[in-house]
Amino acid sequence: MIITVTLNPALDKTARVDVMRAKALNRLRDVQVDAGGKGVNVSAMIRALGGGSLAVGFAGGGAGEEFLSLITQKGLKADFVRIAAVTRTNLKVVDNEGALTELNEPGPAIKPEEWREMENKLLGYGAPGNAIVLSGSLPAGLGADTYKHLCALLRRAGAAVFLDADGEALKQALQLEPDLIPDYIKPNRFELLQYFGIPDDERMAEARLAELCRSLIDKGVKLVALSLGGEGAIFASKNGVRRAAAIPVELRSTVGAGDSMIGALVYGFEHGLPEEDRFALAIAASAGACATAGTNPPDRTLVDELLQKTRIEKVA
Ligand SMILES: Nc1ncnc2c1ncn2[C@@H]1O[C@H](COP(=O)(O)OP(=O)(O)OP(=O)(O)O)[C@@H](O)[C@H]1O
Ligand SMILES: [Mg+2]
Repeated sequence: MIITVTLNPALDKTARVDVMRAKALNRLRDVQVDAGGKGVNVSAMIRALGGGSLAVGFAGGGAGEEFLSLITQKGLKADFVRIAAVTRTNLKVVDNEGALTELNEPGPAIKPEEWREMENKLLGYGAPGNAIVLSGSLPAGLGADTYKHLCALLRRAGAAVFLDADGEALKQALQLEPDLIPDYIKPNRFELLQYFGIPDDERMAEARLAELCRSLIDKGVKLVALSLGGEGAIFASKNGVRRAAAIPVELRSTVGAGDSMIGALVYGFEHGLPEEDRFALAIAASAGACATAGTNPPDRTLVDELLQKTRIEKVA
């Protein structure tokens, strides 16, 4: 069973305006609402591939109810902890020139008893054979050690943990002992270099990036999927390092491409696919996500078509 965890979900509202004016009244049109959250995107990708998962997170107030009804409409199964505060709404406004203005709420604060309910819920799912995906930012009231703590708890219970976090939250989780460290991570180039405190340099040799990934394998991480946007990905595991080219597609929206990649990797884990097949599926699913509007996952037919075009070679 796969469980995706979105601790800081949001109702994503998108709207259009002719000209965006600061310090003035702006009348919105074409207002659309969607359930936003990296874990929810992962669940949607798994569903598109034909698999199942359970989406877990915090939801509160009228916005929380709307969020839950939207993810149910997507055909996703959910088991959320209800909180006293209201789920945030993020507003994205696009003007006639295509310029984007974003107004993001900070998100509700989680009370200690609400957090305990989440911990107990997750622990209930932390059985061997289960995969738990921890994705995205943390809500107010939860420290940067939250993912580290959850990862240790869930791995001790025998579950496999996929972590998609950045900054301090990633850093702390990677301080865990080899038997408790996240099993799978998918940093992008920025997140990986930030973790190592290395300034980004476009000319950095790929061999150097591969070396950094390998050093995480030495710490006990089973797979480092380093996503490189339109340049594809590097996959490092104890079986070596593989380089995958990105599949050229007609770009519609690259938002959530990383989430689709994780969805495919965890689907591959659940179905016991050989490593190389998991990587190919991850590349095809994420390219398909880029060719699909919004954060919607690509459908299985498109993924299967793109699978024929994957090119992966062993480099170390
Ligand atoms: N322009 C593109 N063409 C084809 N595939 C792409 C393109 N951009 C991204 N991808 C695919 O998506 C994967 C993940 O992309 P990226 O590195 O941008 O993830 P990310 O930064 O974690 O994104 P997000 O967090 O917004 O989901 C890449 O490894 C690649 O396989
Ligand atoms: Mg990402």
